[in-house]
Amino acid sequence: MDRREYWESLYSEEYDTFTKYNVCGEDWFEQYTDGGRKIVDFISSLRAEYSGSDCSLLDLGCGNGQFLLLLDPTKFTKILGLDYSFSAIEMAKKMGDKQNSPIDWLQADVFSLPLRVKDGNWTIIHDKGTLDAIELQGRELVCGYVQVVVDLLAPNGYFIVTSCNKTLDELVSILHGKLSFYRNLSYPSFRFGGQEGAVLVTAAFMK
Ligand SMILES: C[S@@+](CC[C@H](N)C(=O)[O-])C[C@H]1O[C@@H](n2cnc3c(N)ncnc32)[C@H](O)[C@@H]1O
Repeated sequence: MDRREYWESLYSEEYDTFTKYNVCGEDWFEQYTDGGRKIVDFISSLRAEYSGSDCSLLDLGCGNGQFLLLLDPTKFTKILGLDYSFSAIEMAKKMGDKQNSPIDWLQADVFSLPLRVKDGNWTIIHDKGTLDAIELQGRELVCGYVQVVVDLLAPNGYFIVTSCNKTLDELVSILHGKLSFYRNLSYPSFRFGGQEGAVLVTAAFMK
């Protein structure tokens, strides 16, 4: 099974469970992020610091959309969640409709985006687990993905990325010369083999 089929089958099961029993699926890393709220607060603080009046947000690989639905949409001029899994986006649409949410949803591959996304000049690009998922498809894809993010971001815009596979130093190195490190969120750390590591990294980079 390739990676795309894997995500499709996972979200298709979630979608069935949601339609039958009204049970939401997984918001990734929710056990470390207080159900996503730590990252919502992180985004809100960056939003408050952003001096421009218009602030748009694009979530690359939004999954079932649960995370985006935690944000206060009135703080953004537009929010778009996209994912290449058809079932993930169907589920996001259903949950969004239930909340009367103004968030837009789109089924699309980050490597083949329609013009309306490419021309978005996005203020904030959010990624929770998508860089990790893309790396699993092929390490060589990471460079291309970073370029997609850089091209989509508006000047002074933020890329906010959460990874369970990378350290902060590794993220800084991947984005070196393209985006500058701005700030990160702290998570519990552990010691292993004489080294200290965090369970998760969330960091904001600026264009
Ligand atoms: C670990 S999940 C995270 C989902 C969501 N961000 C969350 O935090 O719950 C990774 C997501 O990336 C999506 N994804 C992976 N590669 C993608 C690609 N090339 N284009 C669009 N979505 C992709 C998968 O379908 C999956 O929903």
